[in-house]
Amino acid sequence: MSLPTSLSTLELWDEALLTGIPTVDQQHRDIARLGAKMLKETGLPLTSERFGDYFAEFWQLVADHFETEEELMRTLGFPKDQVDVHTREHSALLERLIQTNIHSTTVSEWKHVSDIAHELIAIIVDHIIHFDLSLKSAATP
Ligand SMILES: [Fe+2]
Ligand SMILES: [Fe+2]
Repeated sequence: MSLPTSLSTLELWDEALLTGIPTVDQQHRDIARLGAKMLKETGLPLTSERFGDYFAEFWQLVADHFETEEELMRTLGFPKDQVDVHTREHSALLERLIQTNIHSTTVSEWKHVSDIAHELIAIIVDHIIHFDLSLKSAATP
């Protein structure tokens, strides 16, 4: 499966990205909703205060979601190795989100919120495809 080519609508949260675990899918949708809102900010510079608020909200949603997902994996009885690998990936992603933010605001002052939104969403969608979809088996009886 490849990344969706069009990230302009919530349609990117299609069937293919559902894990079947309601809490996880709902949180993914919430992240997508905020991402979609950021995609519309084509005129808002990354140097603006409002971008700081957007990024803080995005980061917090993702961080809270990762915590919930890790807890769920433990509750659902996933093998410790798998939980550990997934948790390490979550930590690396949070770091990557911060680096993307720093890079975008310092190196590319001319960029807008919509530009970084593409990058942030791509990072999350890629993770869902390569890691979260493995949770699917736990959701099917
Ligand atoms: Fe995950
Ligand atoms: Fe997830």
